[in-house]
Amino acid sequence: MGINRVESLVYGVDDIEKCTRFLDDWGLEKRDSGKSGATFATLENQTFIVKDINDASLPQPCEDGPTVREVVWGVDSQASLEVIGAELAKDRDVTEAVDGSLHCYDELGIGIGFQVEDVVEIEEEAPVLNFNRFVPRLNETIEKTQEIRTRPYRIGHVVYNFPKEFREKAVNFYTERLGFRITDAVTNMGDFMQCEGSTYHHNWFLSHRGNRVMFNHVAFEVKDLEQIILGGKYMRERDWDTSRNPGRHNLGSNLHWYFKCPCGGEIEYFSDMDRMDENWQTRYWDEPPVINFWKADVIS
Ligand SMILES: [Fe+2]
Repeated sequence: MGINRVESLVYGVDDIEKCTRFLDDWGLEKRDSGKSGATFATLENQTFIVKDINDASLPQPCEDGPTVREVVWGVDSQASLEVIGAELAKDRDVTEAVDGSLHCYDELGIGIGFQVEDVVEIEEEAPVLNFNRFVPRLNETIEKTQEIRTRPYRIGHVVYNFPKEFREKAVNFYTERLGFRITDAVTNMGDFMQCEGSTYHHNWFLSHRGNRVMFNHVAFEVKDLEQIILGGKYMRERDWDTSRNPGRHNLGSNLHWYFKCPCGGEIEYFSDMDRMDENWQTRYWDEPPVINFWKADVIS
C-alpha cells in the first residue's frame, strides 16, 4: 500500500492560544498561527495542525472535548494513493480534497486521511557515545548541550484506546486493508503496528483497554536521552505537566517522557526505539511486560 509514516495530525481544540504556546515550547517549528488555528511541523516535515473545536472543516470527532480529529498517513506515490482510495471506497465514503488527499473514517470512527508524503531529509550525525574501551570520540569534546533546544525530528507513533470487543475488526482494517504489520500483539492490552514502509516498532498502537474510543497520545522522536531530558526540563520550567515519568518501555524499548497536552491526550518525547522489518516475527503475549518508569521526581 506504500504507507510510510504519519504525515499530519489535525486537532480540534478549545484554547488555540494555549495550544500554540505549548507546541512552541515542545520544540516544533511554527509555520503559521492566528486566532483560528496554527500549523507546526517536525524537522522531517510532518505537520501538527490545530483548529477551533467547532471548525466545520474538521472531520467528526470520536470523543468529546479537545482531541485529534484526523490522522493523515503519508504514502510513497500518487499510484499508491489511488490504490488505497480504490480499496477503501469498496465499503465507505472516501472524499478527495482539492489538494488530492483522501479522507474517510476507520472501523472505530477515527478520521483518517492519506496524501503523498513530503519528506525533508535531515542531515544528522549518528549519536556517539564513549564507553569503556569503545572510544569513537577520542581527542574531541562535545558542544555545550545544555543550551540546545530539543527539536523533534518526526512524529513516530500515534495511539488510541477503544473497547475490546472491536479489536478484531479495528486491527484487521489496518493489517488487511492498508498493509500494516503487527510487531507485538498483547491479548490483554493491544496491538503494536508498523506501516509498510517503516522499521519503527510501532507507528500505530491500538490499545483495547478503553471503555470508549479515545485518543491516547502522539510521540515525537528526538536524538537521545539527553534531548528527552532537556526537552522535558524545558517544558517543566514553563509549568506544563508531566503525565508519565521518564523511563524505558519494554515493548518497543523506547526511552520516553510524557506530558499532558492541551490539544488532547498526551504527548511523548521518545528515543532509541526497536527497529524491525518484514522479517520480524510477530510476538504474542497474554499480558504486557512491566513498563520501566524510573522514579524521577527530581526532574518531573
Ligand atoms: Fe508512545
